[in-house]
Amino acid sequence: MRVGFVGVGRIGAAHAQVVRDHPAVTEVRVADADPARARKVADELGVGAVATPADAFRDVDAVVVAAATAAHAELMTAAARAGLPVFCEKPVAVDVAGTLEVLAAVEAAGVPNQIGFQRRFDAGYVAARRAVRDGVIGELRRVHLITADAEPPHPSYVPTSGGIFRDCHIHDFDILRWVTGREVVSVYAIGANRGAEVFATSGDVDESAAVLTLDDGTLATLQGSRYNGGGYDVRMEIAGTAATYAVGLDDHAPLVSAEPGVAFPAGPSFREFWSRFRPAYEAEISAFVDVARGERESPCTVADALESFYVADAATRSRVEGRPVTVDEVRAG
Ligand SMILES: NC(=O)c1ccc[n+]([C@@H]2O[C@H](COP(=O)([O-])OP(=O)(O)OC[C@H]3O[C@@H](n4cnc5c(N)ncnc54)[C@H](O)[C@@H]3O)[C@@H](O)[C@H]2O)c1
Repeated sequence: MRVGFVGVGRIGAAHAQVVRDHPAVTEVRVADADPARARKVADELGVGAVATPADAFRDVDAVVVAAATAAHAELMTAAARAGLPVFCEKPVAVDVAGTLEVLAAVEAAGVPNQIGFQRRFDAGYVAARRAVRDGVIGELRRVHLITADAEPPHPSYVPTSGGIFRDCHIHDFDILRWVTGREVVSVYAIGANRGAEVFATSGDVDESAAVLTLDDGTLATLQGSRYNGGGYDVRMEIAGTAATYAVGLDDHAPLVSAEPGVAFPAGPSFREFWSRFRPAYEAEISAFVDVARGERESPCTVADALESFYVADAATRSRVEGRPVTVDEVRAG
């Protein structure tokens, strides 16, 4: 199997290394808007570099898109039109309209497609989902979600990110749906500007919180930050009538117990996403090779990504307008 990569920055280069080592893969070729970047990654990985995205789509059996967010929709649509199975990093597009266009393109072409929500491959979230499905937690009543970066992204990234709910909490919205098997009905979100001015001038926030209601009446709360000095904090708690499960509560959780004599978590905490989720990223991109070969169903389609984008849009609208927003309101346009 021959796989073309478009966009080999931080995450694209890491995915390319895993795909190169997959036993079914015979050839990897990489392209980037920055040709020097493509050449450097190709040399480091011992794979081929090509000049343009179009070259990465030629004579291959599947495509991985890990370019900057603004390019995703166009590249995914081009892959679909070329009849190629496509993996794309989240988000599918910068807005709902763009996501709907990509969905129409992949459905018209009938190509296998997968979006990069790697938490679906993380052992803790997998176990939490099983606990819900098997009834171990009893009747689900409450969920708590946290995604907090240890350090803010580069200032140039902030104005193009789509805001903290679409860029960062979209992972929480996806995993909330996946673990609970429920849909979000409404969101009330708030935010604060406590950090660099670029967040405020971009219409974004660097501290976030939200209350979400699910379609079975379950209440969920969410917290986030771009400035979590303790470390990269991604956790989830699901509480039911029989048990409470915690994802991410291991020795690397960036917490300090205030209880005398308690040494847990032992540390050190994670500082960024790659070390926290490396096995999950590797499993998701390996899964894509199998999806492209028709050996398994896509674990996360464009249609799935659209649903979490609706929730992210509802949260963004709620924060800006200072009122609860239903997902149906956003879906209606
Ligand atoms: N799933 C996750 O947890 C996760 C984590 C990090 C990044 N991402 C997503 O992955 C994407 C890339 O993020 P990154 O951190 O690797 O960024 P990055 O800036 O390190 O890399 C992006 C690369 O894309 C290239 N590029 C930009 N536009 C292009 C185009 N039109 N055609 C070809 N190449 C183009 C850039 O030159 C750069 O090399 C973003 O959409 C981001 O949201 C997802």
